[in-house]
Amino acid sequence: MKWDLFINGQRKEAARYEPLYSPYSGEKIAEVAQADELETSLAIEAAEAAAATMAKMPAHQRAAILSNTVAILERRKEELVRILALEAAKPVRTARGEIDRTIQTYKFAVMEASRIHGETVPLDAAPGGEGRMAFTLRKPLGIVGAITPFNFPFNLVAHKVGPAIAAGNTIVLKPASQTPLSSLVLAEIFQEAGLPDGALNVVPGPGSVVGEKLVSDPRVKAVTFTGSPAVGIAMKNKAGLKRVILELGSNSGLIIDQGYEITEELISRCVLGAFSFSGQVCISIQRIYVHESNFDEFVRKFKLQTEKLTVGDPLDEATDVSALISEKEVRRIQDWVDSAAASGAQVITGGKALNSRMFPPTILSGVAADEPVSCQEVFGPVVTVAPFASLEQAIAEVNNSRYGLQAGIYTNDIHAAMKAAEELEVGGVMINDFPTFRVDNMPYGGVKESGFGREGIKYAVEEMTELKLISIKLK
Ligand code: SIN
Repeated sequence: MKWDLFINGQRKEAARYEPLYSPYSGEKIAEVAQADELETSLAIEAAEAAAATMAKMPAHQRAAILSNTVAILERRKEELVRILALEAAKPVRTARGEIDRTIQTYKFAVMEASRIHGETVPLDAAPGGEGRMAFTLRKPLGIVGAITPFNFPFNLVAHKVGPAIAAGNTIVLKPASQTPLSSLVLAEIFQEAGLPDGALNVVPGPGSVVGEKLVSDPRVKAVTFTGSPAVGIAMKNKAGLKRVILELGSNSGLIIDQGYEITEELISRCVLGAFSFSGQVCISIQRIYVHESNFDEFVRKFKLQTEKLTVGDPLDEATDVSALISEKEVRRIQDWVDSAAASGAQVITGGKALNSRMFPPTILSGVAADEPVSCQEVFGPVVTVAPFASLEQAIAEVNNSRYGLQAGIYTNDIHAAMKAAEELEVGGVMINDFPTFRVDNMPYGGVKESGFGREGIKYAVEEMTELKLISIKLK
C-alpha cells in the first residue's frame, strides 16, 4: 500500500517513496512517502496558517477534539495493534498495552486542555511594585516540531501531539523511518476528530532533511525529540533560541538491597523491565545490582524465568519477544556482547543472535564497567547483573553513567530508600519498583545525557507554552 505525506488536512503525494519492510519477516509492508526540504516547508506553511485558529480556539473545543480522538482510538484499537506488530515487530500483547496507554495519554491531554492557567503575582513584594495588580497567562508557542522514535510509535507521539494540541499549538511531526504508518493513521484520526486542517502535519523522511529543516526553520518555535544523545545534542547546538525538549535514553540501573526477599513478583518485574519489547525502551533495566547475600539466588531465579520467554512472530498471541528493529541493531548488540565476553564476562543465558533479525534475552555477569553493554545504552534484550557489598557502592555504580533517566531500588529499609532518593542522579527514582515504571501523567525526563525538559502532559504543556505577564497599574 502507498502512504502519502499528510499536509494541511489531506494526503499529499510526494516526489519520492521508499519501501517499508517488516522487521520480523522482512516482507515489504508499504511504500512510504519521503518528504524533501520543500515538502517539509509546505507542512510548516500549513502549520503556520493554522496557528491563529488553534491559538484562538476555546479550551473546551480543544478538549472535545482530543476526546473525540480517544473515542476513535478505542474503536480502532485492534487495527492499531496490528500496525504496531507489523511496522515495529511489537508483540501484539505488548502492543495492546501501548494502545491502552496512548488512550490514557490523550485522556490526560483532554484534562490538561481544560486547566491551562497562569497565577497572580504579588508585585508589591518589591519596593516600587505597589499599586499594581499582576497575573500571568500561558500562551501557545505556535508551531511545534516533533521528532519521534520507533519504540512507542503511538504513545511517544501522543506525548508530543497531545500536549501541543491541548496548549493550542500546531504540529509538524516527523515519525521514525521504521514506524511512519502509525503517525499517518493518527493524522487521519485527528482529522476525523475535528482538528482543523494544518494543525497536525505528518512528514516521514530522513532526519538529515526533515529533522534538519524542523530544527533550522525559524517558523518552528519548539522542537521536541526522543532519540539518541548524539542526535539530540547536535539538534540543541543548532537550535539557537528555539525551545528544545530532549528525551535521550539511558542505561537504567536497579538496586536490590540487603534483606529484600527474592520473590516471584520481583523476578517477574525484572524480566518484564529488562526484556519487554526486547529492551528497546529508554527505561529498560540494563544493569541490576543485587546485595551479595542474595546474588546467587537472584541470578538462578532470574535465569529460570527469562528462559521461559517465548521468542517469535509479533502477531502470535504467545510471543513475548520478537525481532529487533533492524539487522544492523542485531549485529551491533552481538558485537557488544562478544566484546563483554572477550573481556571476561560470563553469559548466564542467551548471548548469540538466533538469526539475522532476532536476539534472545541475554543475561551477563562479571561485566567490566567500561564495556559498551554496561556504559552505553544497549536498547536491546541484554541485562548485566552484579553483586554489591554496601548501598554506597551500589548507588555509586548506578551513578557511574553518562545517563540519568530513571533508577529503581527494592528495599525494606526506609533510610536506604531515602538515601537512594536523595543520591541517585536521575530524573525519577522508583522505590520498590523497577526503573521501567511509567504512567503517563508523571513528569518524565532525565538529567546528564538523558536530556532535559519533562514529558507527562501537564509538564509538557508548560514546555510548550510561553508565560506572559500582565501588570495593571491601578489609578
Ligand atoms: C521511552 O522509551 O522513552 C518511553 C518509555 C515508556 O513510555 O514507557
